[in-house]
Amino acid sequence: MNHSSFLTIDEVAQHLKITRQTVSKYIKAKELNAVKINKSYRITVNDFESFVNSNTTAQEPSISYLRRTKNCTLQYTDKADEFEVVHGITHGELRTIKESKQTENKFIFGDNYFVLKNLFDTHKGLIDLVYIDPPFGTGQDFNSIDEHSAYSDKLVDSEFLEFIRKRLFLLKELMSERGSIYLHIDKKIGHYVKIVMDEVFGYKNFINDITRIKCNPKNFSRNAYGNYSDMILYYAKNRDSQIWNDIKEPMTEEKRKVLFPKKHPKHGYYTTNPIHAPGKTVNGDTGLEWKGLMPPKGRHWRYSREVLDELDNKGLIEWSNTGNPRKIVLAREHKGFKIQDVWEFKDKGLSYVDYPTQKNFDLLERIIKNSSYQNSIVLDCFAGSGSTLRVANKLGRKWIGVDNSTHSLEVISKTFDKDQIDFEFLEYVPHD
Ligand SMILES: C[S@@+](CC[C@H](N)C(=O)[O-])C[C@H]1O[C@@H](n2cnc3c(N)ncnc32)[C@H](O)[C@@H]1O
Repeated sequence: MNHSSFLTIDEVAQHLKITRQTVSKYIKAKELNAVKINKSYRITVNDFESFVNSNTTAQEPSISYLRRTKNCTLQYTDKADEFEVVHGITHGELRTIKESKQTENKFIFGDNYFVLKNLFDTHKGLIDLVYIDPPFGTGQDFNSIDEHSAYSDKLVDSEFLEFIRKRLFLLKELMSERGSIYLHIDKKIGHYVKIVMDEVFGYKNFINDITRIKCNPKNFSRNAYGNYSDMILYYAKNRDSQIWNDIKEPMTEEKRKVLFPKKHPKHGYYTTNPIHAPGKTVNGDTGLEWKGLMPPKGRHWRYSREVLDELDNKGLIEWSNTGNPRKIVLAREHKGFKIQDVWEFKDKGLSYVDYPTQKNFDLLERIIKNSSYQNSIVLDCFAGSGSTLRVANKLGRKWIGVDNSTHSLEVISKTFDKDQIDFEFLEYVPHD
């Protein structure tokens, strides 16, 4: 736990399961130490802990507080204070370069740290979905196919982690209470980023670490296993309140062949299931004779005899040569599969994309469909080619993109213009 971080009065009340007023009483009575920052009281975690330890009248901290103590933090020098990051003043503004009469969708050119802070005025608590694919702390420069410099990834180690941590604090403020964030990262630095995300969003708000298969298997001579995956860390602002549409993975033809191998002249591909289940019905319809048959010993009919009649009349019972009935289950009624945490969405080569490290549209479509509604605002503040914005646009979501690379700006302007995707264009301008 970060002992320099502050709690609000509401957070203290929530942790102790008491009212705000009672917390204020403790502060007034000087039993709980609080500092006044910008007109509101804040309590340091250290003060909160010593209050809990010394005050016998305070109830046991709630589970949510105990869970928070599991939030590990990384120790490194020059770690900024959360309060400073969120409340510190920026000397600059967002200036509109091109307005749009048709849309509020925006691309903002500038360093996302300052841009996000400026968005507090208009978008605090309004963003339902954040997808970010920041530089991975590789220490490299990235060029496009024509050697045009796209962006530089020169921050490494703790400088990189701090760069991400600060932006995550700002993103959390912008996210709605039902919002979630997907952070795409490689496996060299990703495990450290997981700890940073635990610190910022809370360990209890971690949902998945998704393995993304990014390329074909590698056959290099290094003494190592091939690395053909990266990771997407998925967190909610409030776990279990996040938008979740439970999109299913459609059945592939390969799986169809295995699961529904038979072809029915009227109903298409199908398989069959037994119409009985374990457990004997002592007194009831599902234990009685149906079409001259009793359920096998120790079992009962899965359906009432009326339903079995209906199924048979519709041709949905298959009778074997030996007179054994089974229910016909149709491939066309299959609802798809629960999506698991290993996804295969390979990147295309540089010659097939508009921007280096451009992400796969299908991957973004899955994320946006699952974790946002029509009209939700989707934010990508490492926009690159604008792939997230483009997919959000296609799916009827509102969007905000940010990037500080002129190449990103050029690519987005050119490709969105070509496809008639309209947006407002703004720029972050620092004051002198
Ligand atoms: C890995 S690329 C994103 C690629 C993108 N997901 C796509 O599909 O095209 C990272 C992007 O972050 C941008 N970036 C890096 N630091 C930034 C900062 N401080 N503010 C805004 N953008 C930044 C880079 O210019 C680069 O375009």
